[in-house]
Amino acid sequence: MDALEYIVCPSCLSELEIIDCRVEDNEILEGTFQCVNCKLSFNVKEGFLDLTFPPQLHKRDEEWRNFYDEHAVSYDEELIDAVVNFGKLFGVKDREEARSYIIQGRETLVESLNLEKGFYVLDVATGTGDFIPLIYKRIGEDGLIEGLDISMKMLQVARRKASDYRIKRVNLTIGNAAFLPYKSETFDAVLHMGGINTFGDIKRALKEMVRVAKVGSKIIICDEGLSPDLRETPTGKMLISLNRLFESTPPVEYLPSNVRDIKLYWIWSDLFYVIEFVKSS
Ligand SMILES: C[S@@+](CC[C@H](N)C(=O)[O-])C[C@H]1O[C@@H](n2cnc3c(N)ncnc32)[C@H](O)[C@@H]1O
Repeated sequence: MDALEYIVCPSCLSELEIIDCRVEDNEILEGTFQCVNCKLSFNVKEGFLDLTFPPQLHKRDEEWRNFYDEHAVSYDEELIDAVVNFGKLFGVKDREEARSYIIQGRETLVESLNLEKGFYVLDVATGTGDFIPLIYKRIGEDGLIEGLDISMKMLQVARRKASDYRIKRVNLTIGNAAFLPYKSETFDAVLHMGGINTFGDIKRALKEMVRVAKVGSKIIICDEGLSPDLRETPTGKMLISLNRLFESTPPVEYLPSNVRDIKLYWIWSDLFYVIEFVKSS
């Protein structure tokens, strides 16, 4: 299946048709898509289809999109700086150790998705795309990775990295996690890491991630939020005073009813919560 076969209007979930486009090397570089039902139009910008909806975003989504647009180029290095800073408390000594500490956590999450060759995987808020090679390693060339993010600048970095790794079956789309532009029951696994705490509509985003997953698929959500034990300690209190996002709690109360086998645990030295579940119907 090609990406254009599962991409739909984020507002009414109807098909999109190409109105006009400029194609180079089989890629649509510029153009316009229109919904066959509600007639909303969506532009292709610098090779990315922008399916962001609604046009007037929730204030928080707009603020964070601007933040990530501004930080995209330096984001990966800033993340390592942050891990070196906080990591001192957990035995991470330098940038090299910080890099492997980050990768280890990412591997744990991807491993838990139980991926198989040929799977279609959605990475919601893919950012600079560091999960893409880890997913690709497991699903191979017959699989497909769809990466969605609200920040085009973050996706530009992800596209460069995917091309460096020569990963072909990856499609990157600009969009809002609360209005996913995909047909229902498309993906064999859904991953989200690092954005849900600040989403404007967390409940809708979770419902959407479940909607686009096939029945029986694994869905994994991870973000900052200290474990109950750590948040009561002096270290926990200090971490929260340095970064308020560490105060966040896992949004389990917002999970839709059509999920089963819910597991809640913490990774990265108890700094990040993980909610893992399976779509039941
Ligand atoms: C901390 S970064 C994490 C990126 C990536 N998942 C990772 O693990 O490195 C958070 C990402 O969420 C994206 N984001 C924030 N709000 C969003 C929304 N409402 N819909 C889609 N993406 C969003 C940001 O643009 C940013 O790329």
